Amino acid sequence: MLLKFPDKFYWGTATSAYQVEGGIRNDWSEAGPKFDAGKACDHYNRFEEDFDLAKEMNNNAHRFSIEWARVEPVEGQFNQEALEHYRRVLQALRQRNLEPFVTLYHWTLPKWFTERGHWLNIGAAQYFERFVEKVVGEYKDLVRFWITLNEPNIYTSHSFLRGVWPPFKKSFYNTQAVMRTQIECHKKSYEIIHKISPQAQVGISNNNNSFLGILKFFSEYYWNHQFFDAIKDYQDFIGVNYYIPVSLWRTIVKGSRDLTDMSWEIYPKGFYHVLKGLKQYKKPIYITENGLADARDEKRSKFITEHLEWTHKAIGEGVDVRGYFHWSLLDNFEWDKGFGPRFGLIEVDYETFKRTPRPSFRYYAEICKNNAVKI
Ligand code: FCB
Repeated sequence: MLLKFPDKFYWGTATSAYQVEGGIRNDWSEAGPKFDAGKACDHYNRFEEDFDLAKEMNNNAHRFSIEWARVEPVEGQFNQEALEHYRRVLQALRQRNLEPFVTLYHWTLPKWFTERGHWLNIGAAQYFERFVEKVVGEYKDLVRFWITLNEPNIYTSHSFLRGVWPPFKKSFYNTQAVMRTQIECHKKSYEIIHKISPQAQVGISNNNNSFLGILKFFSEYYWNHQFFDAIKDYQDFIGVNYYIPVSLWRTIVKGSRDLTDMSWEIYPKGFYHVLKGLKQYKKPIYITENGLADARDEKRSKFITEHLEWTHKAIGEGVDVRGYFHWSLLDNFEWDKGFGPRFGLIEVDYETFKRTPRPSFRYYAEICKNNAVKI
């Protein structure tokens, strides 16, 4: 059976600057060898080749992020070379008919920002807003979709609560403070972007889990909806990233479940619940990330099929999903897990930087071409 997706559906992949570009100096690279992405995939120099592959995969959209530390390496001084680079990136996407979805903050920061108190500085939001104003002013002719923040829930919990990512804080109080600042940042950025570019579509990407059992009552609102709710009058679309189910039972009892290389459980039905839960916002929904670490590429095609099957069902029940971005185009630097996990539809050799499309690349290309998935 062929499941058709709506007309003008966006099919793409997602990346983030620090994970793929290489050669970035920011708060992560400064945090020690484990956190230094080094040359990453050298995407900074190879973006044209990479976008050719995205085109070959019949994609019509691409999500990436702009690195603040490149654009504003010194407080208040914008780097012309970096600004020109991202213009070339955007032009390269447009030339290939790939609609850009641009993330303005995907977790990494200029060093000067961290020295001025990080997200805990009273003036943090103003710094961010100045960066947003500059970038949006530069590229308003090339960009329609802006994602201000990536997964504020994952970021604050890893960086300010669990203390496993820079700046390694472990405080509930700080976590809440950063959340509030990021809510403010988003709202202001929303207004700034619309002032500069009235036609723009602005949102965030939140990480939504499929909470099961008792956690549905305890965690679902806090994790999946708190941020969306706080900005509900300041978003043109809902951006959602889905990876895993979470339940107490699953945490305690390790059954014979289908797992990715990261030991994340594969649970496509959870995607359906997550999408249904977003209907309440009455806004278009873009799936801005969904994927798995699978070095042998044994599970990726099935993973994509099943997640799209549940997406299709949600669409059939009135959930306005308008695009799907697979994480990721390339293997890349997976934060504190380094280069081990392989999330790419394209394999990267980190010695030679050679790109080799995996079988799932061809599979996804068929889906994108037909605007449909066969089950
Ligand atoms: C998401 C992140 C993304 C990537 C995937 C695997 O939470 O947004 O950068 O690391 O997980």
